[in-house]
Amino acid sequence: MKDEDMEARIEQKKKISEIFKDFMTGITQLEELGNAANTFLLRFQQGLSFLQRPPMVTSSKLMENIIKKNETRRLKSYIEAGCINIHDAAQSTRALHTSLSGLSDHLIKAKSLLIELERLTDEAALAIESATQLDKDSSDKLRQVTCDEENETAQLPQGPEITEYAALIAVIYSMMKQNYAMQEKIVRSLSLKTSSGELETYSLMWSLRPFVEASSGVFDFFVAAFDVATKKTKMDYQNKLVLAPMVRVGTLSFRMLAAEYGADITYGEEIIDHKLVKCERRINVAYGTTEFVEKGTDNVVFSTCNEERNRVVFQMGTSDAVRALKAAEIVCNDVATVDINMGCPKAFSIQGGMGAALLSKPELIHDILATLKRNLDVPVTCKIRLLKSPADTVELARRIEKLGVPALAVHGRKIADRPRDPAKWDEIADVVAALSIPVIANGDVLEYDDFSRIKTATGAASVMVARGAMWNASIFSPKGKSHWEDVKKKYLRKSILWNNDVKSTKYTIKEMIAHHSCLELPEGKSINKADTLEDLARLYDLEDYFWTVKNIGPLTHDLNHVL
Ligand SMILES: Cc1cc2nc3c(=O)[nH]c(=O)nc-3n(C[C@H](O)[C@H](O)[C@H](O)COP(=O)(O)O)c2cc1C
Repeated sequence: MKDEDMEARIEQKKKISEIFKDFMTGITQLEELGNAANTFLLRFQQGLSFLQRPPMVTSSKLMENIIKKNETRRLKSYIEAGCINIHDAAQSTRALHTSLSGLSDHLIKAKSLLIELERLTDEAALAIESATQLDKDSSDKLRQVTCDEENETAQLPQGPEITEYAALIAVIYSMMKQNYAMQEKIVRSLSLKTSSGELETYSLMWSLRPFVEASSGVFDFFVAAFDVATKKTKMDYQNKLVLAPMVRVGTLSFRMLAAEYGADITYGEEIIDHKLVKCERRINVAYGTTEFVEKGTDNVVFSTCNEERNRVVFQMGTSDAVRALKAAEIVCNDVATVDINMGCPKAFSIQGGMGAALLSKPELIHDILATLKRNLDVPVTCKIRLLKSPADTVELARRIEKLGVPALAVHGRKIADRPRDPAKWDEIADVVAALSIPVIANGDVLEYDDFSRIKTATGAASVMVARGAMWNASIFSPKGKSHWEDVKKKYLRKSILWNNDVKSTKYTIKEMIAHHSCLELPEGKSINKADTLEDLARLYDLEDYFWTVKNIGPLTHDLNHVL
């Protein structure tokens, strides 16, 4: 072999061994980060076990006497809370916050190390390519040389060594990437509601990490164990009461309110894909929420929490499959379902080719739903309106069903209809009769009894309600409606608890007042003047609650019954 070939080989071997050295240094750093983060996980587990102590046993004679003789509201609330000392609890919460911040910080650092490792893996792959090329060139030349020269080739550095290094790098990298994905899932799942059993599984998964082998399928086992631990299930669409998507209204606080009254599935407000692709995911430790925030700003575009993970539907406005996928990938791990809005008749949506504009573009519908379905692990659904004729609606619904969506929501109005026009339940019935997947019927459900009425009239599997819930979220309660003023106040508490956007809070409260009373009265005028949640809290005598939430953060969720 020629001298220059020999030199090139030696150079390549040197290069791959340097790449390997750098790669292994990165792996060691990643291991160290993982170990440090494990300490945070253990601290989180300890902190939580303090807060999740079982309630006090009140059945002993002694306790019975104490309670009888001191039957004050305060004592009762202490006993209900298991006598958690607020000071200790607050300290424990702070420890939990520190652990969560530490874990989030770990993810950021580990991610940037992984990016560097990916770069080295790519370099290793390039090294194989050039080694292969060199092999090919040398063998071409070899065909023309003497036996002596052939002997010389036997002493050359061997190509396969480069391949072996590169293969090892690729395998370890894929392992570390999977480990990172698992750590990310664990950290995302942590909340004050995480059970001690789940936490033990997480700790075990975290500590077994170095022994997971990429090729053994062990990782799949852990993923399955993870899903069992987090009780992640596919959405069930039979006999469900569903909160409809509502812009400005359907934020986290309203969804939590509706769920508390009995909603099984809660849609978020429609968010346009253009907006979501500009967002990054952040954990808001102070409120116990996961937020999607426009990069470089504090603008929270979507907020959710672990508690609603299995019932929240993220509704998106889109007119493009690739952009829709890019946007959906940002939120899909934190929501139960991704839904595409195909019913919005507003000029903004139609002009952008979104919402109801999609109803007349079945190819685009196909493109969007098929792309999302192929690439996402969560279910993908859509919500449509009625088309001009029942036959057209049925034809479109059938086409959508063929794409494999697990359910279809049908709003019983046409594009030209106004909200005051009655919803056409009979045309929803036509769709139900033509499909085998569950249909979610929507339109004019204003009382609890309407849930069964619309089901009987349409044969739908589930029922969705928008305005009826906005005006009084207790519509979901089988116990009957609460007074709207009480619901309004409860909603404000939820808005404070989940740090809802003040504009959304004002809008929703004003909708309630406008429906039941009159916005021209002093209450409505004062709401208009409010600039912050604190202003609103003052207006409704909820200042103490506002400051308690500010001071003890997500612990408020657990002590809700005491406060
Ligand atoms: C304030 C408000 C906002 C709405 N925003 C959305 C939305 O973001 N996405 C959507 O698909 N429909 C939206 N809708 C339509 C509702 O989801 C629902 O289809 C419609 O109001 C009919 O249901 P209802 O008769 O129970 O009100 C909105 C409706 C209201 C009242």
